Amino acid sequence: MPKPERHVFVCTQIRPQGHPRGCCNDRGGKDVVMQLFNELEQRQLIGTVNVTETSCLGPCPLGPMMVVYPDAVWYSRVKEDDVTEIVEKHLVGGKPVDRLKVPEELWG
Ligand code: FES
Repeated sequence: MPKPERHVFVCTQIRPQGHPRGCCNDRGGKDVVMQLFNELEQRQLIGTVNVTETSCLGPCPLGPMMVVYPDAVWYSRVKEDDVTEIVEKHLVGGKPVDRLKVPEELWG
């Protein structure tokens, strides 16, 4: 098995309806995962890029959350329609998509 160049984690946490933090599943996390697999499959990048669904990554109101390692780039409010850009620019081109990065203030 080849060592992956990148590993993408996408939150698909499920919480009960009405939970104060909400959840990435309700915000479309699963759609993001499916689109990511589709894009990677089309480019024959499965294995070069690994994808793992995760439970909560922390900043729930900013979900769906995505984290790309080893770059340690955190994306927020990722929509299905954003996935092509992330794959082309970041996972293939190596340049993170700045407009989708979490606000720096999050880390204060
Ligand atoms: S539920 Fe996805 S970051 Fe918390």
